Amino acid sequence: MYQKSLIILKPDAIQRRFVGKIIGRFENAGLKIHAMKFGIMSTKKFRQHYAEHIDKPFYKSLEKYVTSNSVIIFILGGCYAIDKIRLMAGDTMPGKALPGTIRGDFAHQQRTETPGDEMPPPLMNLIHASATIEEAENEINIWFSPNEISDYSMADDAFHGL
Ligand code: GTP
Ligand code: MG
Repeated sequence: MYQKSLIILKPDAIQRRFVGKIIGRFENAGLKIHAMKFGIMSTKKFRQHYAEHIDKPFYKSLEKYVTSNSVIIFILGGCYAIDKIRLMAGDTMPGKALPGTIRGDFAHQQRTETPGDEMPPPLMNLIHASATIEEAENEINIWFSPNEISDYSMADDAFHGL
């Protein structure tokens, strides 16, 4: 089943010069780029995107981390793309993410927060990827209008039965 997912390369991915390596992994996995933006995320858009976490203790530090510098926001499409990209990203906590995943290979920060911490330090894990079909649809609508999304053929689509 062809699916589209919303991906964000967070500020640490850009600051640590991992953009090419991460996007290269997605190209190698046969995923297609349908839209892409670069810039600093507004706090308004941040709130829309991370609305589910608004009451979490780490919300403020997450906001500071994600809006601190430029990000790359893009849509990737492919067969079962949503689960595939989550697997490629790895566990939310860099210390738990398996080798071979983006977070497991490049994000080595360990969690340092203590229970009851008012503002736990941000968990810098390089990438966001939609977790479900509903989340992907909602996030794509937050970041892109329909006329910014390109549907097109790749030279090898026929070979792959697409
Ligand atoms: P995203 O793809 O960014 O949505 O990550 P995720 O789906 O793997 O995790 P989740 O949606 O649960 O959390 C969103 C983001 O909040 C994470 O990527 C982390 O940056 C941050 N976060 C999640 N859980 C914690 C936590 O327990 N402590 C801290 N400090 N940050 C957290
Ligand atoms: Mg999430």
